[in-house]
Amino acid sequence: MEAIRRATAQAHPNIAFIKYWGNRDDQLRLPANPSLSMNLGALRTITTVTFLEEEGPDALILNGSPVEGPARDRVEAFLHHVRGMAGFRGRAVVESNTDIPAGVGLASSAAAFAALAVAAAAALGMDLSERELSILARLGSGSACRSMPPGFVEWVAGDRHEDSYAYSIAPPEHWALWDVIAILSEQHKAVGSSEGHRRAATSPLHALRVATAPERVARCREAIWRRDFEALAEIVETDAIWMHAVMMTSRPPLFYWEPATITVLQAVRRWRDEGLPVAFTLDAGPNVHVLCPMEVADEVARRLQRVPGVRRVLASGPGGGACRIPRS
Ligand code: DP6
Repeated sequence: MEAIRRATAQAHPNIAFIKYWGNRDDQLRLPANPSLSMNLGALRTITTVTFLEEEGPDALILNGSPVEGPARDRVEAFLHHVRGMAGFRGRAVVESNTDIPAGVGLASSAAAFAALAVAAAAALGMDLSERELSILARLGSGSACRSMPPGFVEWVAGDRHEDSYAYSIAPPEHWALWDVIAILSEQHKAVGSSEGHRRAATSPLHALRVATAPERVARCREAIWRRDFEALAEIVETDAIWMHAVMMTSRPPLFYWEPATITVLQAVRRWRDEGLPVAFTLDAGPNVHVLCPMEVADEVARRLQRVPGVRRVLASGPGGGACRIPRS
């Protein structure tokens, strides 16, 4: 009897402290600059991949509902690559469950492709290292390579496919740093990250952002190693503003902020001036991620809930890497 080609894996999303924005190679997702992030342990995606003998279109079932269109096509394109590596041709059924709101700049594609890479490789009996899995996940979504290793993670930009990978600079236990996320909107964003990456180079600020990113990565890495919140706050906010400045000066420009975004950013700056250790960052969406030491996370969440325009608040500490789990 034919062995069942099936495996299940889980992965967490990650929040970038130093951002990935723009590619040198859009096809391979070779990033223009190195980046650095923390996995978010409280949110996760669990994915089961079953490969069948028959050839044909792959099926994607997300939170119990079949998905068609670009999201399914992107999964299929990724699985074609995995099939090519394993020398297998059969179609796949991908069942994925996630508690991450999609399309709101919460790196849902990062957890999705990290879990998919682990599950698909395992289902086809491929024995890949963490580094190889991060390289593979990167082809699905750039930031997915950072969800592969545990804790605090750096993505080495590299200039070839085999050299662009992520590795852990510190385990989750290293620092009880919290990400308190102010959700301002759960609408699907109009322009996704992949299109945004393509536009980055049209901004006159892009080259300067890219040229100065390695230094910000080095300073951020140091701040994490020393658990120096003040240094981290300064560098993380600067980097997020740089990325949004590039977005806003691209052609056509990209404005992800909403009026309430500014209200939250100003509140965070005020709280820090008053002595509360907080720092903001934002991905490709209006929601604001407020970083702080675990001890003040409840207080930060309470304050954020009172800011006009904040619909709800999620909170997470550092999380582990992507891994295979038993099917539940
Ligand atoms: C703003 O990894 O989502 O979150 O490779 O096209 O899937 P694709 O892009 P993606 O880009 C993430 C952009 C960001 C910054 C970051 O996470 O570094």
